[in-house]
Amino acid sequence: MTWPDTTLARARDIIARYPEPRSAVMPLLYVAMRHDGRLTDEGMRQVAALTGMTAVQVESVASFYSMYKRHVGSHVVSVCTSISCHLLGGRDVLAAVSDATGVPAGETSADGSVTIESVECIGACGGAPAVQVDYELIEGVTPDKGAELCRWLMTAHPEVVHGDDLQTRFGGRRSFPAGPPDPVGAMGPYPAFGPLGTTGGEA
Ligand code: FES
Repeated sequence: MTWPDTTLARARDIIARYPEPRSAVMPLLYVAMRHDGRLTDEGMRQVAALTGMTAVQVESVASFYSMYKRHVGSHVVSVCTSISCHLLGGRDVLAAVSDATGVPAGETSADGSVTIESVECIGACGGAPAVQVDYELIEGVTPDKGAELCRWLMTAHPEVVHGDDLQTRFGGRRSFPAGPPDPVGAMGPYPAFGPLGTTGGEA
């Protein structure tokens, strides 16, 4: 085991929530990404050892889902190009984001600061075009604002990205009026869940 005690304790706490250790494989893969900043062979071996699965079984799960990333920058910019966003300029946003970063969709900048990806519907059709940064949502993004967002990520290198802040700075029309402020943001290029320690609200 190479994970520190705090990470192992978090992993065992997650495993204890399930009737079988192997049922925890997906959240544990997020823990592995949180630990290494991306999904590594060693991280998958750790997950296998904790769940009683083989490394091949763990990798077969990891390789099926796009949110588990072997190669990823410090921030993931996900631009929706499904139908609602496409009709309202999602592909123009993607082009502007790629131009601003010099990174085609599906690739990572040479300095490792951003990964750009084109994604299917992210459930914000009413606020199209929609973009996520480290899975924090921004609605009503224009090409100019998308480019500005990426330039900010590549120069400011924020440790935490916060959806409400991103919406205020780079978003436009929302699908619904904003609800209560969300107190936490994302700490890395993986979905942010409090119990996994991937949110900015963690101690
Ligand atoms: S089509 Fe883009 S969020 Fe649904």
